[in-house]
Amino acid sequence: MEDFIRRLPKVELHLHIEGSLEPELMFELAERNGITLPYANVQEARAAYHFNDLQSFLDIYYQGANVLITERDFFDLTWAYLMRCKADNVMHTEIFFDPQTHTDRGIAFDTVINGIYHALRQGEKELGITSKLIMCFLRHLSEEAAFETLEQAKPHLHRLIAVGLDSSELGHPPEKFTRVFAEARALGLKAVAHAGEEGPASNIWDAIRLLHVNRIDHGVQCVQDPTLMIELAETRMPLTVCPLSNIKLRVFDRMEDHNILNLLDEGLCVTVNSDDPAFFGGYMNDNFLALNQALSPNKAQLVQFTRNAIEAAFLTDDERHQLLQNLDDFWASHGIH
Ligand code: ADE
Ligand code: ZN
Repeated sequence: MEDFIRRLPKVELHLHIEGSLEPELMFELAERNGITLPYANVQEARAAYHFNDLQSFLDIYYQGANVLITERDFFDLTWAYLMRCKADNVMHTEIFFDPQTHTDRGIAFDTVINGIYHALRQGEKELGITSKLIMCFLRHLSEEAAFETLEQAKPHLHRLIAVGLDSSELGHPPEKFTRVFAEARALGLKAVAHAGEEGPASNIWDAIRLLHVNRIDHGVQCVQDPTLMIELAETRMPLTVCPLSNIKLRVFDRMEDHNILNLLDEGLCVTVNSDDPAFFGGYMNDNFLALNQALSPNKAQLVQFTRNAIEAAFLTDDERHQLLQNLDDFWASHGIH
């Protein structure tokens, strides 16, 4: 089964590029940019990655991002992630970036997006990995700051597929961003939002009804509301679930308690993703392997996660068809064994 998982073609829809900054690269960039880190070495950094909840993680995550200064830094970060995609048989990835984490430190919006974008294009050419870019607003910051960020993005709209909403969910429900999401959608962007990670099921309703999202990021708290479960199943609203993240941030005590297979059984369009792999113990294969060990899904369920991700991805019909073909070819040759 582990071999099956490693070979399974995958699609990732929930990945914060800043959360793929491994301590080794963090130290390399700190040295390159003359920045002093609060850790003596890589081991000490890893040892500090113990979290009680989302906020205790975010404090460390934003601090790590301070080493990202130049366009080359953002390129190197993104390229390193794409190499992990290649190793894990990820065919297509839709990644988040948090411009405000950088513009608030005086790094130009253009520096951030140019570095990320050029690495994604090179990944397509040299690695055959297709990708899309999603710009997230930090929900602990103001509506005005989100509008400013959307303004800065306007010269780059052709490089973006969607806007997203991340950072501290508790105390920052979706409604603050109703107007900025409306403007982003009017500009032709799709929309996603983190909801129902730590926060209540009502945040999922509000993301759907107020922000008009195309996907919910996380969404595992939907089980609190049976009516919402029916709505999500009937509309095939995708949930981008992140198993290792949910354990590290104590959304569930143990992987054995994770509800992802129940959601799949209920007919929801759930997918498997890595969120912030450098901080949570692994990339796509690691997430699938951890699920396998704790919950023993069958092969058809594992393939269904990729099928759902292909359904949920922001692709043209032709692109979607190509990915489905790859998955069907894999299933035809590996399914019965
Ligand atoms: N930013 C990076 N990872 C996040 C997560 N899991 N939830 C909310 N904001 C985030
Ligand atoms: Zn996330």
